Amino acid sequence: MAHESLLSIRGVSNTYVSHAWGIVGKRIAKPVLDNINIEIAPGEIFGLVGESGCGKTTLGRCILGLIAYEGEIFIDGVKQESRGRAKRRREMARRVQAVFQDPAASLNPVKRAGWLLEEPLRVHRLGSKQERLKRVDEILDLVGLDASYKDRRVNELSVGQKQRICIGCALMLKPELIIADEAVSALDVSVGAQILNLFRDLHDQLGLGMVFIGHNLNQVYYLCDRIAVMREGRILEQGEAALFAER
Ligand SMILES: Nc1ncnc2c1ncn2[C@@H]1O[C@H](COP(=O)(O)OP(=O)(O)OP(=O)(O)O)[C@@H](O)[C@H]1O
Ligand SMILES: [Mg+2]
Repeated sequence: MAHESLLSIRGVSNTYVSHAWGIVGKRIAKPVLDNINIEIAPGEIFGLVGESGCGKTTLGRCILGLIAYEGEIFIDGVKQESRGRAKRRREMARRVQAVFQDPAASLNPVKRAGWLLEEPLRVHRLGSKQERLKRVDEILDLVGLDASYKDRRVNELSVGQKQRICIGCALMLKPELIIADEAVSALDVSVGAQILNLFRDLHDQLGLGMVFIGHNLNQVYYLCDRIAVMREGRILEQGEAALFAER
């Protein structure tokens, strides 16, 4: 059933708890997110900007169900449970996927690209070997690499090609939503621009919804439909990207 919002974040707050001296020390609670509310429509690219340490990555991790939070997050009407049953977590993993800043850190350097791309399908036990290999070829084509790249080891790829493989891995399970956390920030200007265009093309071709976390405002204005500005764990303002770009 189609829902109006692809992603609905309602009153989400989060507090990290750490211990002052190892596990015996005093517990220190550090509030990071404070009552975040965001609605993202299907196929919308939503930008999240704000100073370092304001909680952008933490919010991304909440959406991915990787950490506990208060409040509610729905993806296409289905509630994300941060500490839900393994089966539910798997189902949610198919709906929402992430691309991170450092492609080299996300990929095992000695594995071949084809093996890595196939991995999500193996983990989720989807399709026969033949079907999985066909999907790997399709995804390579989608991310702008030819089929020969599946036999290349990760350490034989350029940083831009590695990021394309990371994006491919994220797309293998046909997610509805991608969280791109500083996914172009570590790349140099021209490679970053190519990856940004790839996100645009994927959005246009697949109707993918995306949360794009970034520092570079030009990139965010270029890619995103709407933007939220965060500060110290709160949303300061949110609105159409065009309105921000005019300022
Ligand atoms: N695992 C953790 N335990 C305790 N505190 C954490 C943890 N992870 C992050 N923090 C703190 O939470 C705050 C928000 O961190 P977060 O990584 O979400 O910021 P960010 O907005 O993504 O910053 P950047 O733009 O630098 O990536 C920071 O003050 C950080 O020190
Ligand atoms: Mg971050």
